[in-house]
Amino acid sequence: MKRPVRIAVTGAAGSISHSLLFRIAAGEMVGRDQPVILQLIEVPRAMEPLRGIAMELEDCAFPLLHSISMHDRFEDGVVGAHYVLLIGARPRGPGMERSELITANAPVFAGQGRAINEFANRDVKVLVVGNPANTNALIASRNAPDLSPAQFTALTRLDHNRTRGILANHTGANPRGIRRISVWGNHSSTQFPDLGHATIYGEPALAQVDEHWYREQFIRKIQRRGAAIIEARGHSSAASAAQAILNHMYDWINGTPENDWVSMGIVSDGSYGIEKGIFYSFPVRCDYGRYQIVQGLEISDFARDRMRETERELLEEMQTVAELLPEDTEASHRNLSVCLRSGITLYDDGISLPEQYLQTDRVL
Ligand code: LMR
Repeated sequence: MKRPVRIAVTGAAGSISHSLLFRIAAGEMVGRDQPVILQLIEVPRAMEPLRGIAMELEDCAFPLLHSISMHDRFEDGVVGAHYVLLIGARPRGPGMERSELITANAPVFAGQGRAINEFANRDVKVLVVGNPANTNALIASRNAPDLSPAQFTALTRLDHNRTRGILANHTGANPRGIRRISVWGNHSSTQFPDLGHATIYGEPALAQVDEHWYREQFIRKIQRRGAAIIEARGHSSAASAAQAILNHMYDWINGTPENDWVSMGIVSDGSYGIEKGIFYSFPVRCDYGRYQIVQGLEISDFARDRMRETERELLEEMQTVAELLPEDTEASHRNLSVCLRSGITLYDDGISLPEQYLQTDRVL
């Protein structure tokens, strides 16, 4: 039997978590042979509902659920965590853009980045879900000077899955037959869900759909899907967000399938001419716990314009939160190939802690 891993979750009594925690405990996030310890974090007023959720988790008698702890201080909840899911944040209401949440949510992510830096496992993998997710991931990562920026990611798998699901429904294909979708940029209404390299049952997707529909309706629909759900339900997406979180983490930990890739919000290394240092969604392949940006894709003028538009928005968001971004972490975020600090403890022989960072060439 493997040793249990520690998973810290914020917003643990919220609706995304309610769709998520039971599936993590069933083995759907890390693997079906991996015991887990759930470190559930909430604000003090939500501790009583959280206790109810913990009781229900216990009542499911999940064989892989090693133990549960509950915390109303982030610093306590994140101790030793191998995986941190930052879900808790103020959600947007009808008629709002996600970027309008910056002032409410951003400062929280600076404090969380500092605490992860201090208390989490050195090889921690962090997923930011609370909106605006890309910029919150940037803030958390920039406030974690002893970790690699590559250990922080933002959730755009929800957009990737939406692209796949809606395209499947439109064409009559099974979602499993659809591959090589790329979602570029911000998890916002400027994101670019790109079918330029996608295939349906191995044939180019764009040859199988009407180009006008793709350009004028489909892209807009994906960009606005979160808002449409809020309009319809009165609350933001929960079950589909949980599904996307499981998919994102599972693939990051266990690898992406052959012949396919996924979309993840990650720190830009300048690939495809995107400004270094912002958290931008790229097509990536994962292998043995690391991700690599898919290189060499041909980018049309149509695609380039959209990729730039969403990049511009992220640069503006970065300006808005500039005072939360310490200067001393700017260089590590703009020059990723120099250092990969994650994993250093793995190579420590226990006698001499290596002074120098592992040299790596674009392997994140
Ligand atoms: C979503 O995309 O459903 C979530 O990010 C919630 C939102 O505000 O849209």
